[in-house]
Amino acid sequence: MIEYRTSLESINPNDLNGFFVGWVKPLTPEQHYIILKNSSFVVLAYDKENSRVVGFINAISDMVHFAFIPMLEVLPEYQHKGIGSNLFKTMLELLDDFTCIDLMCDKKMQGFYEKFGMFKSHGMIIRKYN
Ligand SMILES: CC(C)(COP(=O)(O)OP(=O)(O)OC[C@H]1O[C@@H](n2cnc3c(N)ncnc32)[C@H](O)[C@@H]1OP(=O)(O)O)[C@@H](O)C(=O)NCCC(=O)NCCS
Repeated sequence: MIEYRTSLESINPNDLNGFFVGWVKPLTPEQHYIILKNSSFVVLAYDKENSRVVGFINAISDMVHFAFIPMLEVLPEYQHKGIGSNLFKTMLELLDDFTCIDLMCDKKMQGFYEKFGMFKSHGMIIRKYN
């Protein structure tokens, strides 16, 4: 059974294995934990039977007007079961009071986010992968 949690209570880095699939330099579970801890909002999908986090989404915010969603990921073996959609919907509920909710994504993901009322915009970024 998948449980959706909005806090890191009783979660530790060992519960966060297997994420950042396909990244050239995946973040460690320790780095992942710090990111979640420092985020303004998190939603975790927790598999109670296997005692592990199987999906997450985080948001950082000025707590007045803007919220930015940097990451959403579901472990490959748990994808296509509605977990990503549930994480996103729950995050939108948490962010209900914010006027501006932004995220960056690949073009192929735009259809996924449009289902939740988001619309395409323009963005500028810096990425220091090296
Ligand atoms: C995107 C992601 C979180 C969706 O999680 P999920 O639990 O599979 O989502 P749901 O089951 O709620 O919805 C699945 C639907 O999302 C859409 N979708 C998922 N990945 C997609 C992709 N790469 N491109 C386009 N659409 C995608 C499809 O419509 C899919 O429908 P299907 O299951 O019939 O194929 C998951 O694929 C993932 O972790 N991907 C790798 C990380 C990533 O790309 N994150 C988004 C960064 S912007």
